[in-house]
Amino acid sequence: MSEDKKKDVLILGIESSCDETAAAVVKNGREILSNIISSQIDIHTLYGGVVPEIASRKHTERIVQVVNRALADAGTALQDLDAIAVTFGPGLVGPLLVGVSMAKALHYVSKVPLIGVNHIEGHICANYIADPALKPPFLCLVVSGGHTHLLMAEDYGVYRILGRTQDDAAGEAFDKVARAVGLGYPGGPKIDAASKEGDPAAIPFPRGKVQDSEYDFSFSGLKSAVLNYLNQMEMKGEKVNVPDLAASFQMAVVDVLVSHVMRAAEEMHAPALALAGGVASNSTLREKMRQAAEERGMRFYCPPPVLCTDNAAMIASAGYFAYERGEFADLTLNAVPGLALRHV
Ligand code: KG4
Ligand code: ZN
Repeated sequence: MSEDKKKDVLILGIESSCDETAAAVVKNGREILSNIISSQIDIHTLYGGVVPEIASRKHTERIVQVVNRALADAGTALQDLDAIAVTFGPGLVGPLLVGVSMAKALHYVSKVPLIGVNHIEGHICANYIADPALKPPFLCLVVSGGHTHLLMAEDYGVYRILGRTQDDAAGEAFDKVARAVGLGYPGGPKIDAASKEGDPAAIPFPRGKVQDSEYDFSFSGLKSAVLNYLNQMEMKGEKVNVPDLAASFQMAVVDVLVSHVMRAAEEMHAPALALAGGVASNSTLREKMRQAAEERGMRFYCPPPVLCTDNAAMIASAGYFAYERGEFADLTLNAVPGLALRHV
């Protein structure tokens, strides 16, 4: 190895903030060596949403196997790691504590450095894995079940938040609407699939505007409009065309997201746009956003769906950039359910 070639940095990522028990080993923040995701969706589907106590118990049952499998698949021993990165917020407190406790135990026995990662930053960093050439600055839309943020990634770990949702997150709106029309949980993928057979112009749902805040989002008005529409149809004794409703609702969400992001892109002269979070796996959102970005000559990035929804590779990637900055945690690391994204 030549002297100026940097040693490879191997990070184990651990993620348990919601209903995915996940562990991954990532090299130099960009190359996945293993990526294990044990989903609890089937169990929570029975209840129409994530039940925090059940999620905690399932994480406890699975975390050791998931971590062992991630290390084995990567061909990495605990001692070969340069750091253990774990999500410590935001998320559900019980589920977060399982991952944090596991990471602290591994750190304690192995002395491998510990890093606490913000889950939202993890979603953003999924783009560094999906495209190893991606470098800041870029505009990023984070749309997940709990968060909707429009931000400028000015540098690694340096974020300027331009807008956020004032009520429901985009994914939450998908989940609530899907439940109301009987499509089940999680709503996003179900609405995405149902919309393929529907007409996006069939029902004119409102495009949510927020007064005095050009980049903030609001999805509760749209959700209420869908619920009112369902009530009216029931009162009239008319059958709801679910594919038309799904396609029309989805297009209302996508229109608002695209128009906000493109306004910001033009005002900020953003050279590139990246999508992140579970809702970024939505086929219409990806297509419309790509089209709008390319029309404006912006480079467009969007991770494959498996890196958009919760996973630990993105946590290991965020951990790598924290490692490079020397930002380590110790055994006092605790779960912070309402953790905000650190920003400038
Ligand atoms: O990022 P994520 O896995 O977890 C959170 O950090 O919240 O996002 C989950 C959210 C759920 O609300 C789910 O319905 C939504 O992402 N989602 C989708 C799609 N796939 C997942 N929303 C729209 N279209 C999809 N294809
Ligand atoms: Zn997430």
